[in-house]
Amino acid sequence: MRVLVAGGAGYIGSHTIVELYKSGHRVVCVDNLYNSKHKVIKNVEEIVKAKIPFYKIDCCDKKKLESVFKKEKIDAVIMFQGYKAVGESVKIPIKYYRNNIDSALTIIELMDKYDVHNIMFSSSATVYGKSAKSPIKETYDALELNEITNPYGETKAMIEKILMDKTIADSKFKAVILRYFNPVGAHESGLIGEDPNGIPNNLMPYIAKVATGKLPYLNVFGNDYKTKDGTGVRDYIHVVDLARGHVAALKCYNKKQNLYVYNLGTGKGTSVLDLVNAYEKANDKKINYKIVGRRAGDIDKLYCNPTKANNELKWKAKLDIVNMCKTSYKFETKGGLGCQEKKQKKK
Ligand code: UD1
Repeated sequence: MRVLVAGGAGYIGSHTIVELYKSGHRVVCVDNLYNSKHKVIKNVEEIVKAKIPFYKIDCCDKKKLESVFKKEKIDAVIMFQGYKAVGESVKIPIKYYRNNIDSALTIIELMDKYDVHNIMFSSSATVYGKSAKSPIKETYDALELNEITNPYGETKAMIEKILMDKTIADSKFKAVILRYFNPVGAHESGLIGEDPNGIPNNLMPYIAKVATGKLPYLNVFGNDYKTKDGTGVRDYIHVVDLARGHVAALKCYNKKQNLYVYNLGTGKGTSVLDLVNAYEKANDKKINYKIVGRRAGDIDKLYCNPTKANNELKWKAKLDIVNMCKTSYKFETKGGLGCQEKKQKKK
């Protein structure tokens, strides 16, 4: 298939492009580079040893995006584009609603106009809201219960709803919704990975910065949760496994139904301290940490039941926590993407 990857220069998008290529698919990448760098595309090209057609376009810009639909033959679209910082979304909700919803609607309208009927959406476990009991199945409907805790999560749920309505109205339109748990790790080459601007909000990139001495210690947000060691439990999935989940999900377009929803996770719960210990062991590095108060909005446990994706997509997360920690550290020691760019300029 020829897949338009919207937001393809981001963390999950870039790894998915690599796996699509490895499976014989081809891509066209669109990204406005708001939260990513052109260097990512260069590094993906180095990994796949091919030129990736790339357009620096904002998916809310219908005119410019239409030029891509006009020019390129596209069989399917994967939507990774969108803002994703939970805390910022609480402070500046309209920015999130405007960008995330607008870009999705623009893409869907252009798909209609250019007869592209297959879409995949990068959704999140955040749509399960605050009282879902782990292991969570796809049938748990937080959208009904209105339990989502932040505007970023609301945009994910709204786009899911838009896609569901569209599949009801248009029998040709096929939508696959993938609900990610906690993607971590990096490509084995160390050329692509998670490279957030500024101080990371998420656990794994924060640990990586402590491991490499860029930050002095990790703040562990609470050790009084109802979990085995009191720290928060999540379902960490290797980003390469997650990327392979997208490739596996492309087969849905050959099936009868026109809406598919899958959890992509390992089904295993890992605590903050489990991850810290695993990182120390995998990389032989000390991770200093301090226990501090809970982070607002956090819940004790969140992990999935991945059986539906395992059975229907014949996909399973295979890469273990050691691999997640090793590749994260490798990417971080290579300097992430920003530093590589600086080094290049100096040459
Ligand atoms: C967060 C988002 C979620 C998003 C996901 C992307 C919230 C409420 N949720 O999930 O919507 O899809 O990232 O990966 O922000 N922790 C620390 N210290 C830190 C950072 C995190 O102890 O410096 C703990 C947290 O309390 C939590 C666990 O680590 O127990 C994981 O946190 P994080 O990586 O931010 O992911 P989520 O909160 O699960």
